[in-house]
Amino acid sequence: MQIEQNISLKPYNTFGIDARARHFAKFSSTNELAELFDTKYSPEEKLPLIIGGGSNILITQDYNGLVAKNEMLGIEVVNEDAQHIYVRSAAGENWHRFVVHCIENNYAGVENLSLIPGNIGASPMQNIGAYGVEIKDVFHELEAFSINEKKVQIFTSQDCEFGYRESVFKRKYRGQFVITSVTFKLKKQPDFNTTYGAIQQELEQMNVQELSIAAISQAVINIRQSKLPDPKEIGNAGSFFKNPTVPKKQFENLKKEFSAIVGYQANEDEVKVAAGWLIEQCGWKGYRQGDAGCHAKQALVLVNYGNAKGSEIFELSTRIMKSVFEKFGIVLEREVNIL
Ligand code: FAD
Ligand code: EPU
Repeated sequence: MQIEQNISLKPYNTFGIDARARHFAKFSSTNELAELFDTKYSPEEKLPLIIGGGSNILITQDYNGLVAKNEMLGIEVVNEDAQHIYVRSAAGENWHRFVVHCIENNYAGVENLSLIPGNIGASPMQNIGAYGVEIKDVFHELEAFSINEKKVQIFTSQDCEFGYRESVFKRKYRGQFVITSVTFKLKKQPDFNTTYGAIQQELEQMNVQELSIAAISQAVINIRQSKLPDPKEIGNAGSFFKNPTVPKKQFENLKKEFSAIVGYQANEDEVKVAAGWLIEQCGWKGYRQGDAGCHAKQALVLVNYGNAKGSEIFELSTRIMKSVFEKFGIVLEREVNIL
């Protein structure tokens, strides 16, 4: 394994931010990972940062330390019972490639999560979700290398404390574990989930006669491609903010003033509000200053048209948060990991 010096991170983050890493390495086994953490770095350096596909990070400054890209590969069936197949994937596998593998083998459960960028290892980090499914719904367990104890530990679903775009790895154990593999519990018989968003409409448009996991996957891909920018063309990290949850009473009051406000019942007492709608109402949709902007088809996505600095995107996000708070009294929270 080679440790390179002073490397541009532009190819390694989907925002396309041209910041530099003091050291950079790619690891493909737990042994190589352990070696990276055994290496002595200068005392002023930051702890090593693990990245996968770089599709949920905003790099606002050069990284004074080691950036290590997880390239651990391998997908295997590890168990099965009457209804389920247990499939373990190494953390460096591409998420969508895993979804395609499941569809080809008729393992159901991840089809609604088609085309989410990034790698398996980061998927539990924020409990990735889309179109009515989150990975907690198909999660069995994961293996993670403890940086302090220098050994691999198993986390069950309960240990991960999954929530909406949340897990222990994003909060209390941040920077303490490197996820090395994830085992998913997939269904032999599919439970089709077509109720969310425009899936049903898209399936009709596709003229699908017989529902299948492959058809749902294609419908999700079509919808995503119609509104989300392809990072190969325009730099972005998907939704920049979370959809905020507000008390029901606050939502009812807002509804009196803004009758078109978009919200979904989150639980008995709270409503989840579409942040994209709030941002659009504040006039940001399609906004551009220099190369930093707010996507013209999806206001929740901030974009880099070419040479924006991470700090410029960050400043734009702060301005958006301020205006949403001033207009609606709602505090937006960034979903993307800020570095
Ligand atoms: P990275 O960006 O490399 O890392 C993200 C964070 O996880 C960092 O803090 C990093 O340090 C940490 N990390 C990475 N790997 C490991 C590891 N092995 N162990 C420990 N920590 C690790 N997300 C959704 O939930 N739903 C969507 O629908 C969705 N759509 C998107 C659409 C687009 C166009 C884009 C660009 C992004 C979208 N995202 C979505 C966000 C992103 O795809 C997911 O968060 C994805 O899981 C990030 O994976 P990654 O490998 O790129 O993570
Ligand atoms: N909307 C607007 N204007 C916009 C964008 C959205 O008015 O510019 C309103 C519309 O009413 C729309 C509603 O917001 O119906 C919801 O929009 P959309 O279906 O595009 O979903 P979202 O809430 O913006 C969330 C996730 C996405 C995920 C989709 C589909 C979050 C933060 N984002 O987006 O995840 O793919 O639902 O399930 O929860 C990501 O996390 O990076 C991501 C892309």
